[in-house]
Amino acid sequence: MPALQSLSLSPADWWNHAVLYQIYPRSFADSNGDGIGDIPGIISKLPHIADLGVDALWLSPFYTSPQKDAGYDVADYCNVDPIFGSLSDAEKLIETAHEYGLRIIVDVVPNHSSDQHPWFQKALAAKPGSRERARYMFREGKGVAGDLPPNNWESVFGGPAWTRVAESDGSPGQWYLHLFDASQPDFEWKNPEVWELFRSVLTFWLDRGVDGFRVDVAHGLIKAEGLPDEEKLHHPPLGNNGSFWDQEGVHAVYQEWRKILESYGPDKMLCAEAWVMPLSKMAHYVRSDEMHQAFNFGYLATSFEAEALRSIINESLAAFGGVGSPSTWVLSNHDVVRHATRLGTDFVSQGQPTGIGPRSPEKPDALLGLRKARAATALMLALPGSAYLYQGEELGLPEVIDIPDDRRKDPTFFRTHGERYGRDGCRVPIPWEAGAPAYGFNTTGESWLPQPQAFAELARDNQVGDPDSTLELYRSLLRFRNQQGLGKGSLVWLDGFSSDVVAFANGSVSVVSNTGEQPTARPDGEVLVTTTALGDEMIPAHTTVWIKTA
Ligand code: NOJ
Ligand code: CA
Repeated sequence: MPALQSLSLSPADWWNHAVLYQIYPRSFADSNGDGIGDIPGIISKLPHIADLGVDALWLSPFYTSPQKDAGYDVADYCNVDPIFGSLSDAEKLIETAHEYGLRIIVDVVPNHSSDQHPWFQKALAAKPGSRERARYMFREGKGVAGDLPPNNWESVFGGPAWTRVAESDGSPGQWYLHLFDASQPDFEWKNPEVWELFRSVLTFWLDRGVDGFRVDVAHGLIKAEGLPDEEKLHHPPLGNNGSFWDQEGVHAVYQEWRKILESYGPDKMLCAEAWVMPLSKMAHYVRSDEMHQAFNFGYLATSFEAEALRSIINESLAAFGGVGSPSTWVLSNHDVVRHATRLGTDFVSQGQPTGIGPRSPEKPDALLGLRKARAATALMLALPGSAYLYQGEELGLPEVIDIPDDRRKDPTFFRTHGERYGRDGCRVPIPWEAGAPAYGFNTTGESWLPQPQAFAELARDNQVGDPDSTLELYRSLLRFRNQQGLGKGSLVWLDGFSSDVVAFANGSVSVVSNTGEQPTARPDGEVLVTTTALGDEMIPAHTTVWIKTA
C-alpha cells in the first residue's frame, strides 16, 4: 500500500494524459451490508485504486435520488443520498482521494432531474403556463382532446418520450418531455432559471474540492425549435440525428461552464458524454473554450479488428487534434456490455441500453472475449491521450448475462417489456475476496444485483501477485505507461506487418497488436508486457505486446 502523498497532484492539464477509473458507487464496495455500495465503502478501498496506478477517479451519481435510473434521476444535486452516505462522507472522499494523489471528478446530470425534484413537484402542482412549469418541457397534447403526445419522439429507454399529467382538478392535462424514463423530466434549457440552478450546482461541488465533472447527456440539453416530429426514428434513439441531439445551442452552456471552472484555477476539467457521430462533430464539444474532453464512443464501438482500429485511431487523432486536444479512449462503462464479453461475440454495441441476457441470440465465448479484451486494453493504454477504465475491467469481469427477470432493475428492461435487457449485466457488484460473503463486496452477502459464481475465480484477492492475472496485467500496463510517458507521447504507424496487425511506435515503445487468428513475427527488443504468454519469436493470435526498442 503506497504511503499517502500529500496532494502531490500532477500539473494543470493533467486530464490530457490521465487514466481515469470510473467508480459506479452502487456496485463498488458496501460498508453497511445493505447490498448497495456506498461512499464509506469507496473510501475503504482507495488504497487499492491508488495501487492500480490510475491518476483520477470519476464517480457516477451519489446524489439524493429515488434511484429509478440508478441515481441518474437526481432529486437534490447538492446532497448525498442516504443509501450512499452523507455530505460529509463525500467531502471526506474528495479529501482522501487527494491524499492518495488521485484527482476526482463527479457526474453532473443537467438534461433532466428526478420527478421527485422540488421543482418538478411544484410544476405538477402549478398551472399550465406558470413559472413553475416553464422550468421543464410541458406542452399541450395533440388531437381534439389533447390526448395524443405533442410529437412522435421516443424515449432512449423505449416507449414514448412524453407522459401526460393530471391537473390539480383531476382532469387530464399537459404532457411533459422525458428523453429517458418518465421519472426523469427534461429541463427547459431556454429558461435562465435552469442555467442558474446548474451554476450553483457546479460551484457547490467545486467549493468542495472536486477536480471536474463528467457531463451526462451533454448533447441533449437543447431541443429543436418547435419540437418537430422525427422523420426517422432510431432504436434506441442515439446519435446525432434528430431534433433532440446535438443542437447548436448546447455549446453556449459549456462555454459558460468553462469560465466557471477556470475561475477555480487552470486544473479543473469537463468531460462530455455526447453520443455524437462522426467524431469530428463530437470534437466540437472540446473546442478550446468549451469542455476539455469527450468520451470517445467511436473507439468503444469498434470491434477488435486491425483495419477498423487503425481507422478509428486515425479518425480520433484527426478529429480531436483538429481542435487542439488529445483524444480519449474507452472500452467499457456502466451503460454498455463489458468488453470482456462484447469482444467474445459478434454482438455489436449499439451504444447505451441494449444489453445481453439469457434469451439473446449471442452466446459469447468467455475465454476468447477475455483474451481479446486484454489485448484491446493493452492497445488502448499505449495510445497517446487519456483513457477511461470502468471498475471491474481490471479483474477481467464479464457481462453478467444470467440475471433473472425479476431481479433486473434497468428501466430499459421494463419500458421495452423485456425486448432490451439494458445495462444491469455490467453493473453487478464487483468481487474483492473469493471466499467472503458477496465476494467481499460487503460482509452480509446482500447484493442489489445477483453475483454469478464465476466472480469467485475473478475476485481481486485471487489475482493479486499472480503474474498471469488480468489485475497484474493492468498494473504492469499502467506502470509502464507512466514510466515510458505513453499518455504524453505520440503515435507513429509501423509498416511491414500483416494486415491483421495494428503496429505503432509511441516514443521508444513499439506496440504490436495481433488481432488475427495466425501468429505473427515479433520485432526485436525487450518485451515490457504481453497479454498472452509468448512461447517463441512469434506473437500469438489476439495478443498485444509492448516492446522497448531503444
Ligand atoms: C447516460 C448515463 O450514463 C446513463 O446511465 C443514464 O441512464 C442516462 N445518461 C440518463 O441520465
Ligand atoms: Ca451500503
